[in-house]
Amino acid sequence: MADATSVLHVSPVIPVVTIADPQHAVPVARALADGGVRIIELTLRTGSALESMKRIAAEVPEILLGAGTILTPAQADAAVAAGAQFLVSPGVTRSLLDHMLQLGVPVLPGVATVGEVMAVLERGLSAMKFFPAGPAGGPKYLAAIGAPIPEVQFCPTGGVSLESAPGYLSLPNVTCVGGSWLTPRAAVEGEYWAEITRLARGAAALG
Ligand code: 3PG
Repeated sequence: MADATSVLHVSPVIPVVTIADPQHAVPVARALADGGVRIIELTLRTGSALESMKRIAAEVPEILLGAGTILTPAQADAAVAAGAQFLVSPGVTRSLLDHMLQLGVPVLPGVATVGEVMAVLERGLSAMKFFPAGPAGGPKYLAAIGAPIPEVQFCPTGGVSLESAPGYLSLPNVTCVGGSWLTPRAAVEGEYWAEITRLARGAAALG
């Protein structure tokens, strides 16, 4: 996958997934793919996230595997070593962005203000995660950013749901949205894979 813009085009929804038990990683990824969602942003919010990433990379090649919640250069290195094919951070610092951009995988930096969008654009990136989308101002805020800066494409994430997604997806500067609603904790821990496939189907149908 050449660049972050192509990452945004894989699915109308990027599932933001947190997995505590690595045994759940492969079935969750397969359940999403079965529902037509062939991309995953696996967060580094659990101690076993890298192990989950390795399993998905090895066993579910049909899914584009991203690592989310990248806060440090060391986490970015570890995620790529574990098989991450793209990196997502909730926000940007200069040193983190410098480091991620050397790793040879697409990077989706998180932004929430016009100044941050401009700083990332200056680095030559025009695909960004808009986080936290709902609290930061929702579709109206993104539409307003699009007036002076139409060349940036966003993946709004944070407080987005099946119901609110269309309001974002109808904007010219939104290619996809992100959200954790496809993999509710109860469904993952209860191993209700068919439920995850059902939610993925609903998300895929937004495209
Ligand atoms: C993220 O890391 O992108 C968010 O935690 C996902 O937000 P949501 O849980 O509100 O979908």
